[in-house]
Amino acid sequence: MTGLLDGKAALVTGGASGIGRATALAYAREGALVAVADRSEAAAQATVAMINAIGGQAIAIAADVTREDDVAAMVARTLIAFGRLDCAFNNAGIAPFQAGPTGQRTHELAESSWAAVLAVNLTGVFLCMKHQIPQMQRQNGGAIVNTASIAGLVGLPMSGAYVASKHGVIGLTKSAALEYAQDRIRVNAVCPGYIQTPMTTETVQRRGDELLGKVPAHRLGQPEEIAEAVVWLSSDRASFVTGSAYTVDGGYSAA
Ligand SMILES: NC(=O)c1ccc[n+]([C@@H]2O[C@H](COP(=O)([O-])OP(=O)(O)OC[C@H]3O[C@@H](n4cnc5c(N)ncnc54)[C@H](O)[C@@H]3O)[C@@H](O)[C@H]2O)c1
Repeated sequence: MTGLLDGKAALVTGGASGIGRATALAYAREGALVAVADRSEAAAQATVAMINAIGGQAIAIAADVTREDDVAAMVARTLIAFGRLDCAFNNAGIAPFQAGPTGQRTHELAESSWAAVLAVNLTGVFLCMKHQIPQMQRQNGGAIVNTASIAGLVGLPMSGAYVASKHGVIGLTKSAALEYAQDRIRVNAVCPGYIQTPMTTETVQRRGDELLGKVPAHRLGQPEEIAEAVVWLSSDRASFVTGSAYTVDGGYSAA
């Protein structure tokens, strides 16, 4: 049996938890060498141990995607370890509650909360692409997947900064897809619906019934269900797919 990503080198940001961890594991299962990046190396190392336990090869990297020096070093370390970069999953992100008080309308948002959300969710994706693309150009190709959200497709009240950041990710993804198609670099976004991860635990406890009422599948998605789409978008099977915002949301955005 061969894997979809045999012989490829992959990099995952936010790889210590939730969707990033599930995707790092799925990449490894499909034969990729995986660089697992997150804010703390110890947390990333736990994902590496899980990959090693299924027979995969991975390295842990401490990197804050809001810091350009960290991002440059993250890509450099991946190249030192694996010699190439074929697939990048730019996934690190924070929810509004991680940047300030929740339940705020736009005029109530502190500029610092706005800036914190945009720094990780949008500027982080920009910095990652900025440092990944030159290597992919040198290799004559690559596949990038950026994590957007259903919040990149529709508005959500009390989530202005998050919604703006995720709409921004889709816009940046589409522009990059146009710019680098000639370099055989595909750039896509994945748009998860409500997924069961540490990011959603508290919200689901508080208003899970209300959220599930909006999901035709009437359940939360699992991180592994996002990973399936990311693996495919990262693989040569998706060779004609670029500039897309691929929803994996149990039907949420079809309504
Ligand atoms: N869970 C959902 O329902 C859902 C839905 C749509 C989109 N998303 C998006 O999916 C992505 C992953 O979310 P998740 O649910 O797995 O959350 P999570 O909190 O489980 O994981 C996020 C990871 O990103 C890391 N991270 C945060 N800031 C970082 C930074 N500055 N630099 C490096 N790493 C950083 C965290 O340490 C954590 O390991 C995010 O971009 C999120 O916005 C999640």
